[in-house]
Amino acid sequence: MPELASEAGLVEPEQPSAYKVATEHLQKHFPMKSGVISRIFRGESDKAVRAVDDVTFGIKEGEAFGLAGESGCGKTTLGKTIIRLLDPTAGSIYFDGEEVTDIEGKQLKAYRREAQIIHQDPYQSINPRFRVYRWVREPLDVHKIGTEEERDARVYEVLEMAGLEPASEYAQEYPTELSGGERQRVGIARALALGPSFLMADEPASMLDVSIRASVLEVFKNLQHELGMTSLYISHDLSLLKHICDRIGIMYLGQLVEVGPAAQIINDPQHPYTQALVSSVPRIDPTADRNQIQLVGEVPDPVDVPQGCRFHPRCPKVVPPREFSFEQAEWRAVASLKYDLLKNELQVAEDVEEPTPDDVREFYEVPNPLTDERAEKLLAQAISDVIEDDDTATDSLERLESAFQTICADPGPNMVDIGVDRRAMCVLHDETLQGELS
Ligand SMILES: Nc1ncnc2c1ncn2[C@@H]1O[C@H](COP(=O)(O)OP(=O)(O)OP(=O)(O)O)[C@@H](O)[C@H]1O
Ligand code: SF4
Ligand SMILES: [Mg+2]
Repeated sequence: MPELASEAGLVEPEQPSAYKVATEHLQKHFPMKSGVISRIFRGESDKAVRAVDDVTFGIKEGEAFGLAGESGCGKTTLGKTIIRLLDPTAGSIYFDGEEVTDIEGKQLKAYRREAQIIHQDPYQSINPRFRVYRWVREPLDVHKIGTEEERDARVYEVLEMAGLEPASEYAQEYPTELSGGERQRVGIARALALGPSFLMADEPASMLDVSIRASVLEVFKNLQHELGMTSLYISHDLSLLKHICDRIGIMYLGQLVEVGPAAQIINDPQHPYTQALVSSVPRIDPTADRNQIQLVGEVPDPVDVPQGCRFHPRCPKVVPPREFSFEQAEWRAVASLKYDLLKNELQVAEDVEEPTPDDVREFYEVPNPLTDERAEKLLAQAISDVIEDDDTATDSLERLESAFQTICADPGPNMVDIGVDRRAMCVLHDETLQGELS
């Protein structure tokens, strides 16, 4: 068993059986072939999109677990890998305590009965040539479940469970005759047909009108209560997840960065990324208008992820180097400028033709001068050397790089316990690092 599992703290290595579904150090990378020219002349090796990168967590029996995070952070890939619609690159997946990472053939078919998916798009995911009856019954025929009569009865039963009544009338409809909400319910009925014990719903309401969203979500809530189903809901919409989930996990660039009870994640987010996400949802945070946390920069490329905490190039709380007396906001601005200087991607306002150091500082909102004299000297030298394309630019950039280091870019951080049933992956919460932070 990988030794980091206990450090991650989500699934004790000896007890994935404590969860209905669990993963340990799960990875799903999508390889990208480098072109011949890049390989031969630039010496580049094949790279990979690190869509899911070392995710360890568990979903308890009967629990509704929500997964949130910006577009492209790996939510769908994690969900599809768990239910084995995608093959994992590394790590383990457990279901009812049994490892299902590499199962094939009959075992995989049996797992697929237990773990079902409800797709995002009710328009695309239903075969328009099938009447509702045939579409919902198809999985029962494929898996050869029960007698003809039992399959027939099951179709009407699950249509009713999904709120499609009278079921006999809906059974005869074609998808084109149904509204978006009704089609999503047909998708739910089909997923229920095989009597799964685990349901994954990927953005289940995002394609629906606001007016019908609530009623479809009610179906999920009822299923949760009546069947005690274990479920994984994937959504951008934190207010939706708060409504239907027991716990929420927040993903950033292929990793889980915070996990905890839904109300606590929304009302008292602890990870700086979760705080930013929550602050951007005015409906669930009434103070959001005043306190919205603006993140700097774009989400980095999942092919080339930042060292250490993957959020550090954007984090408003990124830890300043101990050797200098930076104000927090001052350091955030300096760190952003430093990354662009080192990447040779310095930016200035669009209307500036011949940039001066002041233009650069203004663009990055870096105070002039910095509070710390030594820091000011290092930064000012690097900016002017780069702008003037001075021979000494390489040296001054190297000095800047080695002096302006944040602990957030060191290897790690680990996922640590931050309360009852709560975990976060941030150096600010890692007690073993407190000495290094002060
Ligand atoms: N089949 C694939 N081949 C290559 N890259 C992929 C593939 N599927 C997903 N990716 C990449 O993996 C990363 C994670 O994608 P994923 O769809 O899991 O994100 P997501 O969090 O579900 O995003 P969204 O909220 O937009 O649905 C993205 O960079 C995406 O481009
Ligand atoms: S480790 Fe540092 S950069 Fe990452 S979230 Fe925590 S404070 Fe921000
Ligand atoms: Mg997705």
